Amino acid sequence: MRILMVSAEAAPFAKTGGLADAVSALSIALNKLGHDVRIVIPRYYKINRDKLTKLEGPMGVYCGYSEEWTAVYTTTMPGTKDLPVYFIDHENCYGRDGVYGTPFDPDFQDNPYRFSLLCHGAFQLCRKLGWYPDIIHAHDWSAALAPVLLRFNERHGEFAHTKSVFTIHNLGYQGWYSKHNYPVLGLDWQHYYSSGFEDYDQINFLKAGLISSDVLTTVSPTYAQEIQSAENGFRMDGILRQRSGDLFGILNGVDMDVWNPSKDKYIEKTFSTRSMAGKAANKKALQERMGLEVNPDIPVVGIVTRLADQKGVAELFAPTYGCAYRMCTDMKLQLVVLGSGERWCEDELRVLSSNLPNLRAYIGYDESLSHLIEAGSDFFLMPSRYEPCGLNQMYSLLYGTLPIVHRTGGLADTVQNYNEQTGEGNGFVLNHLTPSSIYDTVGWAMYAYYNKKDHIKAMQKRAMQSNFGWDVSANKYLEIYEMIQKRF
Ligand code: ADP
Ligand code: GLC
Repeated sequence: MRILMVSAEAAPFAKTGGLADAVSALSIALNKLGHDVRIVIPRYYKINRDKLTKLEGPMGVYCGYSEEWTAVYTTTMPGTKDLPVYFIDHENCYGRDGVYGTPFDPDFQDNPYRFSLLCHGAFQLCRKLGWYPDIIHAHDWSAALAPVLLRFNERHGEFAHTKSVFTIHNLGYQGWYSKHNYPVLGLDWQHYYSSGFEDYDQINFLKAGLISSDVLTTVSPTYAQEIQSAENGFRMDGILRQRSGDLFGILNGVDMDVWNPSKDKYIEKTFSTRSMAGKAANKKALQERMGLEVNPDIPVVGIVTRLADQKGVAELFAPTYGCAYRMCTDMKLQLVVLGSGERWCEDELRVLSSNLPNLRAYIGYDESLSHLIEAGSDFFLMPSRYEPCGLNQMYSLLYGTLPIVHRTGGLADTVQNYNEQTGEGNGFVLNHLTPSSIYDTVGWAMYAYYNKKDHIKAMQKRAMQSNFGWDVSANKYLEIYEMIQKRF
């Protein structure tokens, strides 16, 4: 099957969160199953052109007002022999820092134009290559225009049999802009309402994707249910209920070549269920690197996250409200935080780490430290307000780092609560997100660490044996691709 992935992010080239990991890992898994998968993303400024190959000739992309001239670069996805990644190069749109924005300007005002160029560019790329996909698979709001264009502008000629899949990685980010941007989408005004773009007299990319795509998927079964309710539907629950027959929840997998304690290149020492000594070496390395007391007996609780409200950071770190300060003063633990995002939270973390000897925060983005935290911590704290899938709790499980999570979305699908009587479970789960429930659940985990050592050991082992390989999920996507081929 020929599948074109359209996305704003793909690891290892451009990543702000799990979207990048999910798009690349799914593509690699489909490639391994023998399918012709290709990925198209923008050539952001930070992606070094010298390491890529330029396709011959410029590529004209009509997008709304004008025809833009772009160049296309390509390379092969690492870890595969024949999975091409294409990069659309356009100085005006992508020749700057940031995928969607920068810390000072989190949402570039010309994003409608930048991502319109990506989606129109995807179709032009196929023409340029003389390669026409069976499936256009678009990810999140920034790629949502692609299925819309397929439905209203392109479903003829070579694309007559192409079908679209739209995956919701996060319903909280919708791409909501003034309707003055509508002309750059290259859609006729007659489709303003029918495409789904119109939203309270503005344009909403995600909503258009939800209405115009042939099939919708999201990244865990529980999240697929949750988004059909007013509480978690971000105003889209009505549309999602209406399309519930076309909406599938498929749990993300983990790229086991990258996140695997027995061969992780970033960590101090590899380890596995058969030899756990490496885990202790990683704990020591982590304590040293973060400037904490080096002591194997103090439990380390790790956090790696975007510092965004979605992740429960207010309940953890907000001044006077969050529980982190109390947790670090009342409990014998060490808290290690790696994250970047909202300015108030970055500032607060700096204050907390200068006041508390057992809290250390690294503000920024650091791939190798994120691996060391997974490997060297005893627990991983992820009290997300909502979580479409969440990758870090799965990485944690595979590294024998027991997750402490809020029962929501993909966290509910992957973490089973500890049972003190039987020792069953693979983590600690809180039912309602409040500062005191985080405090209590972390306290409970600490109690188990100090008093139920056998249970903790057994849970770690069980966690490390989890199967999160992408092959199962990739096959579910294939079933969907095949189903829509037949259906229309
Ligand atoms: P989301 O995509 O909502 O941010 P996920 O759990 O799906 O949440 O994925 C987050 C991904 O981003 C993980 O691979 C995690 O390791 C990575 N990540 C997040 N923040 C950082 C950071 N500051 N440094 C390094 N990696 C990070
Ligand atoms: C989003 C979600 C996260 C999910 C990731 C990959 O960023 O917030 O839960 O794991 O996409 O699908």
